[in-house]
Amino acid sequence: MKHFSIAIDGPAGAGKSTIAKLLANKLKIIYVDTGAMYRAVALYCINNEINYNDKESIKNILDDIDIKIVYKENNQRVLLNGKDVSNEIRTNEVSRGASAVATIKEVRIKMVELQRNIAKGTSIVMDGRDIGTYVLPNADIKIFLTASVEERANRRYKELFQKGVNCSLEEIKNEIKQRDKNDSSREFAPLKKAKDAIEIDTTGMTVEEVIEKIVKLIPKDFYN
Ligand code: CDP
Repeated sequence: MKHFSIAIDGPAGAGKSTIAKLLANKLKIIYVDTGAMYRAVALYCINNEINYNDKESIKNILDDIDIKIVYKENNQRVLLNGKDVSNEIRTNEVSRGASAVATIKEVRIKMVELQRNIAKGTSIVMDGRDIGTYVLPNADIKIFLTASVEERANRRYKELFQKGVNCSLEEIKNEIKQRDKNDSSREFAPLKKAKDAIEIDTTGMTVEEVIEKIVKLIPKDFYN
């Protein structure tokens, strides 16, 4: 069977990771969450007291950062210099830092190399901001997921609330707006719908409805 790749891009809270994970399970292929890699770079900066907005300092220490993606019981784990940081990278502070370090071209080039290597020789669902436009421009299927800012903020708020994270809806909404702005306006590989991507506005849609819509786009011989 031929390998195939599905690229899922879109802004924060559009449902990319939930959808991509379920889709990958359904198709029995691997899921790659590229945001986790930018988050790990941000965590490194925070832990080492490097200002994540200080581009020059970050460029200088890039060689000290080793990021690996491994799979444990089908779940992606992110290793930062050998340590599993998959849970630690889910804070709001790390979200802000990830969006800042992701504007640095050198950081992106390093992460993209890792992403393309993972995609080599295996079928995958990969989610991020620039997968369909830059990382895997030849992906077989490209999806661009969107939703209103209100809905995205609500989803993220619920997710964090369930994890016991204390934050306000207003704070989340502002953070999402700021990240949308950062991600869409950066010079190198910004968040953008690829010309050949199919856009799905998930506002008011359930996860099952979105999955169903995407599955219909996938040729049957890809996964039978
Ligand atoms: O899940 P959520 O959308 O909140 O964030 P994420 O996918 O974990 O990504 C965190 C940040 O990393 C984003 O705000 C982007 O700035 C950056 N990112 C990126 O620039 N390119 C990617 N392929 C993935 C994430």
